[in-house]
Amino acid sequence: MAKTTPTHTSTIFTIFFFSILIATKSQEFSRKLSQKKLGLKKEKLSHLHFYFHDIVSGKNPTAVRVAQAAMTNNSSTGFGAVVMIDDPLTLKPKLSSKEVGRAQGIYAFAAQNEFGLLMVMNFAFTEGKYNGSTLSILGRNLVLSNVRELPVVGGSGVFRFARGYAHADTVWLNMTSGDAVVEYNVYVFHY
Ligand SMILES: *[C@@H]1O[C@H](CO)[C@@H](O)[C@H](O)[C@H]1NC(C)=O
Ligand SMILES: *[C@@H]1O[C@H](CO)[C@@H](O)[C@H](O)[C@H]1NC(C)=O
Ligand SMILES: *[C@@H]1O[C@H](CO)[C@@H](O)[C@H](O)[C@H]1NC(C)=O
Ligand SMILES: *[C@@H]1O[C@H](CO)[C@@H](O)[C@H](O)[C@H]1NC(C)=O
Repeated sequence: MAKTTPTHTSTIFTIFFFSILIATKSQEFSRKLSQKKLGLKKEKLSHLHFYFHDIVSGKNPTAVRVAQAAMTNNSSTGFGAVVMIDDPLTLKPKLSSKEVGRAQGIYAFAAQNEFGLLMVMNFAFTEGKYNGSTLSILGRNLVLSNVRELPVVGGSGVFRFARGYAHADTVWLNMTSGDAVVEYNVYVFHY
């Protein structure tokens, strides 16, 4: 039987000591924090209302098709197409009314038997205290339905910790060109 010499004992002790040290170190990337320390007071609920202009046609489109599948042309619902957008958001249905931000992101035709979009976009606001703040939207948009509901999955600036939903309601659609004006009502919890 091997004897536990003092050297062995100290080696075992050293290994034990360092494993505790490593275990402690690995926790260092996270710690508990009070809401106050981050400047978070009371959670509030805001309602935002604006119009989204999806301009597909003409010389200055704000929505451009960046990719599609070989079979997209054969699909009655455009399945497989991907569109990049930088759409103006305005106070009133008219494009010439005051701009409050942009909707920047991507929508993709994700349904084979209906006009169903996957929307991944940020509302980047430029108005007043919202200037520079964003809301992130990720949802399903059945464009021919009356009102669609899209989840708000997060935000930045005044919308940090945001959660909520957006109701999208088409107020004008040119079926030939694809141009559309969509009314958005966004309900969002934030601090
Ligand atoms: C799909 O149709 C468009 C216009 O009709 C044409 O420009 C494009 O080349 C077609 N793409 C494929 C993959 O057939
Ligand atoms: C699209 O449809 C045409 C006509 O029916 C057919 O010849 C062609 O192979 C189809 N293309 C694809 C990519 O499915
Ligand atoms: C929004 O912020 C940007 C950058 O700070 C600034 O250039 C712009 O004038 C601001 N717009 C409004 C409407 O306050
Ligand atoms: C709809 O789009 C088509 C094709 O771009 C255009 O010729 C027509 O004038 C548009 N209709 C309206 C009401 O704007």
